[in-house]
Amino acid sequence: MRSDHLTALAHARDTAVPATAVAHPNIALVKYWGKRDEHLVLPRVDSLSMTLDILPTTTRVCRDPAAGRDRVTLNGRPAAGEALRRVVAFLDLVRERTGLAHRAVVDSENTVATGAGLASSASGFAALAVAAAAAYGLDLDATALTRLARRGSGSAARSIFGGFVVWHAGPDAGTVAEADLGSHAEPVPVGDLDPALVIAVVDGGPKAVSSRVAMRRTVDTSPLYEPWAVSSKEDLTGMRAALLAGDIAAVGEIAERNALGMHATMLAARPAVRYLAPATLTVLDRVLRLRDDGIPAYATMDAGPNVKVLCRRADADLVAGAVRAAVPGGSVLIATPGPGARLLAGGGR
Ligand code: PMV
Repeated sequence: MRSDHLTALAHARDTAVPATAVAHPNIALVKYWGKRDEHLVLPRVDSLSMTLDILPTTTRVCRDPAAGRDRVTLNGRPAAGEALRRVVAFLDLVRERTGLAHRAVVDSENTVATGAGLASSASGFAALAVAAAAAYGLDLDATALTRLARRGSGSAARSIFGGFVVWHAGPDAGTVAEADLGSHAEPVPVGDLDPALVIAVVDGGPKAVSSRVAMRRTVDTSPLYEPWAVSSKEDLTGMRAALLAGDIAAVGEIAERNALGMHATMLAARPAVRYLAPATLTVLDRVLRLRDDGIPAYATMDAGPNVKVLCRRADADLVAGAVRAAVPGGSVLIATPGPGARLLAGGGR
């Protein structure tokens, strides 16, 4: 099997065979916010997420030995500006590792609104990592793929795996190589938990401040950042225990306080970064009322105004109905734990 695989990879290096990969977004229950190394994308804190079963990204990569530049299409349109720059920089990394200088044709279809805090960069760079590694004949196991995906967008490291996933910040001391090696994602054991995330899309438009810029500003200027990073460590320990115990209320409480704390760090940045909109607070109020009514429902928000409500799968329709009524202009989706990134059969290996 193994030698067949290596033969296929060697073949892939000689002939420009396309590779297509699918990856799903993930939503963090203990957030990644703040980098300690921007180039290597090493985070300040460990984070933990759930990979979703909806909103996949499908990405096809084909080397083009004759081309003078990379050609990238996102949702049928040629990519330009920052989006193109990030994909080309990522491909450069793959080229550096393989010694293959070929440019590539990249075609990516996202089912989720890009740049709206709905984790499109997570599914996008996870799919690109898997497809580009295969197209360039780079033989990486899943753990190594999480390190590669991390370089495109930090949260993408977690989308390589399905279900619940932790992304280790990695060691602070030691060499650059040790830090890079230690900052990888891995699946987290979960007990008897049957969760759903109800996603309230209150605004699908792109965010005003990119998460990259917002993180940097928060770390550099927010007096609340360090206390949050410290409490986040406790949140991670508590979250692992709550997941193992299948305790949805404990999972939800920790997720909600971790997310609100993250947004507090941004609100205290100078100048403030505020992703939360009036409709976000309307959903948060509705979630509190659901809890008053005895339904375990807990909110989390990322770099955007949209709210993801964690609840039991059995309550998902009820929670979705309550959220839909609270924000009539928005749309509501229900997600459950989904699979890790994968290469499509016949996609180049
Ligand atoms: O991967 P990035 O750079 O898009 O950062 C995303 C960070 C949050 O979504 C806000 C939190 C997280 O852990 O996913």
